[in-house]
Amino acid sequence: MAAPVVMILAVTLAASLAACDAGVASASSGPGAAEAAGSSAAALTGVSANPRATAAASSAVSHSAAPTPASAAQVAAHGAGQSRAQVYESVRQMTALGKQLFFDASLSGSGKLACASCHSPEHGFSPANALSVQLGGNDMHRSGMRAAPTLKYLQSVPAFAEHYHESDDEGDESVDAGPTGGLTWDGRVDRGSEQARMPLLSSFEMGSSPAKVTAAVKAAPYANAFRAAFGAHIVDSDDATFNAVLQALGTFEQTPEVFYPYTSKYDAYLAGKATLTQAELHGLQLFNDERKGNCASCHISQRSRDGAPPQFSDFGLIAIGVPRNRALPVNRDPHFYDLGACGPERTDLQGRNEFCGIFRTPTLRNVALKKSFFHNGIYHSLDQVVRFYAERDVHPQKFYPVSHGKVQKFDDLPRRYWANLNTEAPFDRKSGDKPALDEAEIKDVVAFLKTLTDGYQGASATANPATQAAAN
Ligand code: HEC
Ligand code: HEC
Repeated sequence: MAAPVVMILAVTLAASLAACDAGVASASSGPGAAEAAGSSAAALTGVSANPRATAAASSAVSHSAAPTPASAAQVAAHGAGQSRAQVYESVRQMTALGKQLFFDASLSGSGKLACASCHSPEHGFSPANALSVQLGGNDMHRSGMRAAPTLKYLQSVPAFAEHYHESDDEGDESVDAGPTGGLTWDGRVDRGSEQARMPLLSSFEMGSSPAKVTAAVKAAPYANAFRAAFGAHIVDSDDATFNAVLQALGTFEQTPEVFYPYTSKYDAYLAGKATLTQAELHGLQLFNDERKGNCASCHISQRSRDGAPPQFSDFGLIAIGVPRNRALPVNRDPHFYDLGACGPERTDLQGRNEFCGIFRTPTLRNVALKKSFFHNGIYHSLDQVVRFYAERDVHPQKFYPVSHGKVQKFDDLPRRYWANLNTEAPFDRKSGDKPALDEAEIKDVVAFLKTLTDGYQGASATANPATQAAAN
């Protein structure tokens, strides 16, 4: 019965940390280690229930005008009776362990698959290869039905809600934004630690079990560190060990400097420290323009009102009619459909027709590092993706199969669910209309998307201080 204790411990630690950091993060300027840990801790304290709180926590890293963490966290901190140093040490230990676990293939049934095999750090924590879906399972020949997403910038994905309302200071609270949030393409789980259970146990991914994971941890080079962090007797229970592993992985995934550093060229541009090329700037305009790409209506490109940097997603679950990927083994069965939120992977909304065909809008940060796009990995270049948006309705034959001279539009969504398809720009056209973007414009949008990759080095010393002041 140690499992709940581990969870509570982690949450309390995190709460203490958040409280310790109240007012500290706003005092200094750069994303220092202390602030980073504080933000990570705040993100762990159950703020998945309140996305804006997490956004505020992350904005504390890069901006000065961040609100202090919730007072509930401070109360918890006083109750915990731990010194600031002890709290930092615990989070540091868990993060270090989580990192080792993330790269450890011995946790898998085959001994060959680590989290990092499908979520490669060099590729924005998305796959290194261009397969539509990754191979796994005990023989490493099994595959699932979905492309592995990036693990970056998940810290402000809100918990899944059927009816999402923005907080009053972020937008209009009375507007129902519809199904929003949750992790994975269909939003079926809310927290990183819970999520990690799925690949570890899935027969077509890591194919492991709590017993195998415990055996691997006991034999790992970090076994002693694991006992030091979670208690000497933790490995006596498979379930407790498994839950501690999930907790450590979840904590690692909240490391700000690794998972949400905000170091792209576009971030530098927003801070007045970089200039976009003509193509990039034009691409940004087309991305934002409601009559052209209208991309920003779902992939938010502007800072929020509290100054938090844009996440390039509103986290809405939306049906955009991505074509069926006939290369996937599951799709050999003509009766099989991956319908996103209404199943079959997700089970709690089965039979709710209004949820069929919808998938969570992904962030576009680091999207240029990806090699397969959309939930079924059907496209392999950004050009193809942007062309799909621009021409889906005006030249459907470019994207969907043609049978007996007739285009089989929306071939991966049975007709009874077509009412769920989004019809706003650029999806407001019909065959024969002018595409939302021409070929040159598609190129510019792609050029802009490439400014969203972290690790931009070119922040120039010649940045205009006036622009910078305006941007801040
Ligand atoms: C065989 C490839 C594979 C492995 C190994 C793997 N994942 Fe994933 N991961 C995926 C796929 C595919 C999805 C999307 C699943 C879905 O939508 O149903 C995903 C989704 C996720 C998400 C949710 C991302 C989002 O956008 O909501 C997280 C977090 C995650 N994985 C973490 C991990 C961790 C931690 C491990 C190791 C314990 C791991 N993954 C191992 C393929 C993999
Ligand atoms: C109505 C909301 C909406 C609009 C408008 C929109 N997107 Fe998306 N975008 C989504 C959703 C939802 C997905 C995932 C769809 C899926 O896989 O089924 C997505 C996926 C993507 C992906 C693939 C990312 C990945 O990790 O696989 C890219 C790239 C992208 N969009 C770029 C754009 C661009 C560029 C525009 C404007 C031309 C745009 N989007 C307009 C909702 C939207």
